[in-house]
Amino acid sequence: MWVSDGKTAGKDHAVLRCFLHRSVVRTARGMSAGAGRQKSPVFAALAIQLVIFIPLWLLRPLAGELLGYMPPLLWVALAGGLLAGIVTRGFGFSAPWVIGQVGAPPLLVLALALDIPSWVFPLVLLLLVLLFWNVAGNRVPLFLTNRLTYRAIEEVLPDRPLHFVDLGSGLGGILRYLATRRPDARFSGLETAPLPFALSWLMGKFSGSDNLEMRYRDIFREDLSQYDVVYCFLSPVPMPALFEKARAEMKPGSLFISNSFTVPDHQPDEVVEVMDRRRTKLLVWRM
Ligand SMILES: C[S@@+](CC[C@H](N)C(=O)[O-])C[C@H]1O[C@@H](n2cnc3c(N)ncnc32)[C@H](O)[C@@H]1O
Repeated sequence: MWVSDGKTAGKDHAVLRCFLHRSVVRTARGMSAGAGRQKSPVFAALAIQLVIFIPLWLLRPLAGELLGYMPPLLWVALAGGLLAGIVTRGFGFSAPWVIGQVGAPPLLVLALALDIPSWVFPLVLLLLVLLFWNVAGNRVPLFLTNRLTYRAIEEVLPDRPLHFVDLGSGLGGILRYLATRRPDARFSGLETAPLPFALSWLMGKFSGSDNLEMRYRDIFREDLSQYDVVYCFLSPVPMPALFEKARAEMKPGSLFISNSFTVPDHQPDEVVEVMDRRRTKLLVWRM
């Protein structure tokens, strides 16, 4: 399970890095990559939709004259979605973003045609915001560690009482799993996305483990010196600053484990390759 090549961190890493550094930054008023604060991919995706939809909408009467009838709104939405998908892909966004960009305009038109009550839209938007709270600000989406990786992390843990933290704990699945497997250890989760935090807090209470706590806390405000093992599954964006923080605060001999995302210029001491579908790599640094 242990491999020595610390340079690779999976295809998703490359895709995310590509999407964050190429597409988002360039769509943000011509800023060049790395210069200044990067813009959110959410705003970049919306900007692409608007830049495509507005000219299509203005050209609709002209198309009407040429065709002899006004093209239905659904056609405009389908064409707009397709163009937005192509442009989004061209900027290097990953497949889920492209699919979302293609599907969003026609789905919106269909939803309007279905006469869905108007309160549904703000409600869905609110739920999405509460779920993906850290996408716009911290550039960290919600995706979850899988069960095979739970087991790999369990094997990495030292065989002595310890305090483990998941920085950005999402729904808290890894913590609940480990808390039952390692009653001798303590497990903490820090999360600021309101919906995942509330769900993980509730599931933690119902899990019956008394060695588990879920806290509403920004990971950059936490003192990491109290932990023996720090685990994170975030994105390339916060890794350099987080690693510097970990090096400054963590105890000698403690472990810093990053699921998939490397730290530029800092090779991990070990890389655990998980035999799951995406060939997850756990990058392990001994502090
Ligand atoms: C990719 S998910 C990983 C979830 C969980 N650790 C797992 O592996 O299943 C990353 C989580 O980090 C949270 N997050 C991102 N930045 C954060 C911050 N500064 N403070 C607290 N949580 C943060 C996000 O809201 C998201 O739920």
